[in-house]
Amino acid sequence: GRPIKVAILGFGTVGSSVARVLAAGKYPGLRLTHIYNRDVERKRLSTAARYVPADAIWTENINDVLTSKVDIIVELMGGLKPTEAWIRAALTLGKSVVTANKQLIAYRGASLLRLAKAHSVQLIHGAAVAGGVPVIPGLLHGQSADHITRIRGILNGTCNYMLTRMEAGAGYAEVLSDAQALGYAEADPSADVDGFDARAKLCILSRIALQAELDPDQVPAQTISTIEKIDFMYAKELGCTIRQVSTAQLDSTRAGAMVQARVGPMLIPHTSPMAWSHGTQNMVVASGRFGGDVVFSGRGAGGEPTAVAVVSDLLAIAQGGVSVELPVHRRRVTGDFISPHYLRF
Ligand code: NAP
Ligand code: HSE
Repeated sequence: GRPIKVAILGFGTVGSSVARVLAAGKYPGLRLTHIYNRDVERKRLSTAARYVPADAIWTENINDVLTSKVDIIVELMGGLKPTEAWIRAALTLGKSVVTANKQLIAYRGASLLRLAKAHSVQLIHGAAVAGGVPVIPGLLHGQSADHITRIRGILNGTCNYMLTRMEAGAGYAEVLSDAQALGYAEADPSADVDGFDARAKLCILSRIALQAELDPDQVPAQTISTIEKIDFMYAKELGCTIRQVSTAQLDSTRAGAMVQARVGPMLIPHTSPMAWSHGTQNMVVASGRFGGDVVFSGRGAGGEPTAVAVVSDLLAIAQGGVSVELPVHRRRVTGDFISPHYLRF
């Protein structure tokens, strides 16, 4: 058949890596035809532009993409505005969308997924959680028959990178600026260190694994910015290290079925696999009633691992990939029952 035309919105860390993975040429059916970015000339002159086909159109006018014959739009700009409006427009025009935007999918995913369905197109967001680790496809395709009661793990590569290096003696400001330079951090890195990035991801996983629609603003998030060298010394005396951990657990013992959820730094015993996650490595443990614990682990941040997830989503759409759809219920959040201090795994 004819090649599937792909547009990238946002030619930054992930967008340029997607172009690179596509250019590596394993996917003859996908053709990159448009790059949208503000101030686009700067991007066209960047070294990453060599991965973009010579006949692709570079534009700073979104209508050039929306009114074109592009089949799939890949949104890699981030944020809710103007991305939500543009994704709505794309879906309504019959274009499928792939995105890595966790804030958008956590806050607006339910309604956007309905819109995609109404227009018989796809909205896939495998790169929105845990970068290159296929947690979302694993939960959607591999574990959908289980009754998952708890999701727990390390969902932010920047914090994990920072905490691992601080444990080895480096200072907070230095490791934060390195995480930014390496392309791991969000545009505003307080999203990483204050836990807002991880809690958006936790809410996305709750929707898929627990069938619980949560309001991200209700999930308690505690910053890692108060962690100091001395905290690692005390942790060590207790046989522990410190990691930013996210956890969401169904609490069906109470009427109305709530979800216990929180994000924040925790003491992790050195014997726990979670303590062995170094650098940008994310780890998600999905605990099911029938299948027990399933562990997903790998690089959770950085352009290329994330681009693999994005391009895998593109391939799934190109090959007509269908995902399992289960009913989702709105749930209230409580952080009450989770000890903020110590984690056994
Ligand atoms: P980035 O390097 O900042 O790239 C974003 C790109 O979009 C930049 O080129 C930026 O242009 C452009 N852009 C942003 N807002 C725009 C607007 N309003 N109009 C036009 N262009 C705009 O960010 P990134 O790290 O690639 O992240 C992109 C998305 O992927 C985010 O949703 C992020 O959360 C998600 N993500 C990132 C990673 C990672 O490891 N980096 C992993 C998973 C998911 P300027 O250059 O002018 O700013
Ligand atoms: N800033 C995010 C992180 C990118 O560090 O995990 C991956 O979602």
